[in-house]
Amino acid sequence: MLRGQDLNLRPSGYEPDELPDCSTPPRHSTKQCPIIAKMERREMKMLAAKAALDFVGEGARLGVGSGSTAHCFIELLPQMRARVEAVVASSEETARRLEAAGFRCTAEAGGLDLYVDGADEADGNRQLIKGGGGAHAREKVVACSAQKFVCIVDESKRVARLGEKHPVPVEVLPMARGHAARKLAAMGATPDWREGFVTDNGNWILDARLLDLTDAAATEREINLIAGVLENGIFARRRADVLLTATANGVTEES
Ligand code: 5RP
Repeated sequence: MLRGQDLNLRPSGYEPDELPDCSTPPRHSTKQCPIIAKMERREMKMLAAKAALDFVGEGARLGVGSGSTAHCFIELLPQMRARVEAVVASSEETARRLEAAGFRCTAEAGGLDLYVDGADEADGNRQLIKGGGGAHAREKVVACSAQKFVCIVDESKRVARLGEKHPVPVEVLPMARGHAARKLAAMGATPDWREGFVTDNGNWILDARLLDLTDAAATEREINLIAGVLENGIFARRRADVLLTATANGVTEES
């Protein structure tokens, strides 16, 4: 069985071999070359990640998130090595990257000063949808055990209303897939099984579209009451304390 980290469900980082040739853009085209767009997005993620370094204090006990923006943060983190006392990873992939960067990870999350992670969507109240990479259950544990959660996004992740662009990922025990899907449908959602994807916890993901997220905290709680649900990707009850958004003009900070 394939595990999450073996699947290339979501592109991360700059992969030159996958990209089309843009050396001769079509005449009269106003579309941006996808190579340039992708590089600019990576630069924006790097900008947000760099801004998050300022939150790493002396003797920091640090939680690190998952996904391509968190990977940018991991790339930069060795600059802060002398300040970091302990590190907790929110996924197996993050643990591998942290260890490759020379950090030894602690298995248990608890008493952290800071958690730094990306998001799939962020609204104006610093509420998030996460779990595009299927790591949201561990991410929520680490976020909840940290005093401060700094979320790093590029401007493409900003939404006026949660759920605008991204479904809510729901991690379920494999045996609970049908039951949880029916319960989500009864809540008005259209659940799609992320077929072939297995989380780091050995579970499956249902991506729930069209959920009513007017009261995101209430929906977050309601989904987690479904038997067999481990965790969902709404971060409203534990929203970000600080939201750093990278734009073409620099990084904005909301807290
Ligand atoms: C993984 C996550 C990620 O933070 C989220 O998917 C954003 O990823 P990226 O930085 O690659 O856009 O929640 O479960």
